[in-house]
Amino acid sequence: MAKKVSVVGAGFYGSTTAMRLAEYNIFDTVVLTDIVEGKPEGLALDMNQSRSIEGFETKIVGATTTAEGGGYEATAHSDVVVITAGLPRKPGMSRMDLIGVNAGIVRGVAENIAKHSPNAVIIVVSNPLDEMTALAQLATGFPRNRVMGQAGMLDTARFTNFVAEKLNVPVGAVKTLTLGSHGDTMVPVPSRCTVNGVALTDKLSATEIEDLVTRTRNGGAEVVALLKTGSAYYAPSAAAARMAKAVIEDSGEIMPVCAWVDGEFGISGVYLGVEAQIGCTGIKKVVETQLLANELADLKIAAEAVRAKQADVQVL
Ligand code: NAI
Ligand code: 2OP
Repeated sequence: MAKKVSVVGAGFYGSTTAMRLAEYNIFDTVVLTDIVEGKPEGLALDMNQSRSIEGFETKIVGATTTAEGGGYEATAHSDVVVITAGLPRKPGMSRMDLIGVNAGIVRGVAENIAKHSPNAVIIVVSNPLDEMTALAQLATGFPRNRVMGQAGMLDTARFTNFVAEKLNVPVGAVKTLTLGSHGDTMVPVPSRCTVNGVALTDKLSATEIEDLVTRTRNGGAEVVALLKTGSAYYAPSAAAARMAKAVIEDSGEIMPVCAWVDGEFGISGVYLGVEAQIGCTGIKKVVETQLLANELADLKIAAEAVRAKQADVQVL
C-alpha cells in the first residue's frame, strides 16, 4: 500500500517537517499545504530537486488550500497528517496568547482533514499544543487514540541537550523525560533521568538539576527571544517527523507525547503529556511511568491546568 503523509502549514515548522519526512525515504508521497498561494508548490519543487543529491525517492506535492476547503483533495487518503498551521509566538508572548486565532485555524484544518482522510492518524503541533490537540480531536470526531500532539519529544530533547552540555558527555549517553503540559506546567522528571545508566541525581546537585529543569521549561521562549521573529523549528520538526515515522512503521516505540489520558496516574478525561506506545493506530497504550510523589503531584496540577483550557477551546 502506498504510504502518504500530509503536512498542513508550510511555514518554518511545516516545511522542515516535510523535508525530514521525505528524506526518511519511507513514504511514497509527502503533501505540503498552505493558504499562501504558491508557497507549498514552490517549496515542494525545491525539495524534489534535492532528491538525487540526498538519494531519496519520496515525491513531495505542494498544494494551496483555502479556508473553505479548496485544495484538500491533494491530501486525500493520507495515513498520517501533521497539523502545523497557525501563528507562532513573538518575544514576550506565551503559547496561550495564540489560543484564539489558532483555534479557528486548527478547527477548520481538522474538519477538512477528517473529510478527506477519515482514517488518518493526526499529529498536532500548533500552539497552545495541549489545547489544539484536544480541539483537533473534537473537530475531527476521530477516536482519541488517532489524535495526538507533539511536545514531550521536543521538551525531552531540550532537557537531554542541556544535561549533555552541562556534563560534557554525548547526547547519546543521556536519557531524560518531560511530561505534563507544553507550557508553564511542564513536568521535567529528574527521577527518570540517567547519564550512562547512572542516576542524574548522582551526577549533579539539586540546584544544578533545578537550573536545567527551569531552562527546559523556558526552552521555547529562549529560542523565540533570540530569533525575535518566529519560534524554533529544527528540533520541533525532528520530534514530529519521528512520531510520524513511528506511526507509519507501526514501530511500537515509547515516546513522550500529548495523549488522551483516561485513568492512568489517577487522571481522567484530558489530553496531557505522557509516555505512550506509538503505532499504526496512533496511541496504542499510555504508559504509566513510575514517578516520585512530587512529580506525580505536578503531573496532576498540569492535568487540571490544561483541562480548564481544553474546556475553553470547545467554545472558541
Ligand atoms: P510559521 O508562521 O512559519 O508558519 C505557519 C504557517 O501556517 C504559515 O505559512 C501560514 O500561512 C500557515 N497557515 C495559517 N493558516 C493556515 C490554514 N488555515 N491552512 C494551512 N496553513 C495555514 O510558524 P511555524 O514556526 O511553522 O509554527 C507553526 C505552529 O507551530 C505555531 O503555532 C507554533 O507556535 C507551533 N510550534 C509548536 C511547537 C511544539 O512543540 N508543539 C514547537 C514550535 C512551534
Ligand atoms: C517551542 O517550544 C514555541 O512551542 C514552541 O519552541
